[in-house]
Amino acid sequence: MTNFITVKNETKTYGSGDHAVTANQNISFDIAPGELTIILGASGAGKSTLLNVLGGMDHLTSGSVNVNGIELGDLDSRGLTTYRRKQIGFVFQFYNLVQNLTTRENVELAAEIADQAMPADEALKAVGLEKRTENFPAQLSGGEQQRVAIARAMAKNPALLLADEPTGALDYKTGKKILQLFQDFARQSGKNVIIVTHNSMIRPMADHVIEIADGQVKADTRNAQPTPVAELEW
Ligand SMILES: Nc1ncnc2c1ncn2[C@@H]1O[C@H](COP(=O)(O)OP(=O)(O)O)[C@@H](O)[C@H]1O
Ligand SMILES: [Mg+2]
Repeated sequence: MTNFITVKNETKTYGSGDHAVTANQNISFDIAPGELTIILGASGAGKSTLLNVLGGMDHLTSGSVNVNGIELGDLDSRGLTTYRRKQIGFVFQFYNLVQNLTTRENVELAAEIADQAMPADEALKAVGLEKRTENFPAQLSGGEQQRVAIARAMAKNPALLLADEPTGALDYKTGKKILQLFQDFARQSGKNVIIVTHNSMIRPMADHVIEIADGQVKADTRNAQPTPVAELEW
C-alpha cells in the first residue's frame, strides 16, 4: 500500500554556526493511510520540531518529507500556508482558542479556511459540547476548552490531524476522555492522527509508535491490536 507519510533523513537545525541546534537528525519513517500514530519521547527529544515540520509550521533543513503526495521541502512559505489550511488540523497543549469568540465561532473560524469543512455544530456535537456553543473559552473548563480545540481541528475535515501533548495540561480522567476522542476520530473517519506525548503508558492505544530520543528515531513499532482507551490505565 502507498504510504500516507514518507519521511527520509529529515533534519532540522535551528540557528547557525556556534549557536546551531540540531533538533531532528536523519529521521526516517513511514506512516500508512488511516493510522493512529504516537510519537513518544522525553522533553527536548525533538518531538514538537518533528510535528511542526509535518504540519507545515516550519521548514525542514534537509532530507524529504512527503505527506499525502505533497513534498513539503518543495514548498515556499506561501505553499506551506496553503498546505496547513487545506490538509492539517492542529491541537495544542494549551488549546489556543480565540478568547473573545464563542465556542461555535472558534470552530467556524477554522472551518472557513478549509475546502470541505464540517458544520461547526456537527463538530461540536461529536465532542459532546452541543450545549456550550454560546460560551466563551474563559467560561469553560480546561477539558472543555480542549474539546473545542479538537472540534475546531476536526471541522476542517483535515487529511491529517496533529496533536502536541494534548493532555499535558489536563487531569488524568479528562485527559483520558480527550485521548478517546482522538481514537474515535481516527477509527470513524479513517483519517490519519498523530499524537505527540512523553507518556509511554498510552502507547497501546496507537496503531504505530515512533520513539524519538536526542533528535533521532530510537524505535519504530506497530500494534496489531491497539487497546481501546477505555481499557487503558496509567
Ligand atoms: N525555535 C527554536 N530555536 C532554537 N532551538 C529550538 C527551537 N525549538 C526547539 N529548539 C530546541 O530543539 C530541541 C528539541 O526541542 P523540541 O522539538 O521542542 O522537543 P520536545 O517537543 O520533544 O520537547 C531542544 O533542544 C530545543 O531547545
Ligand atoms: Mg514539545
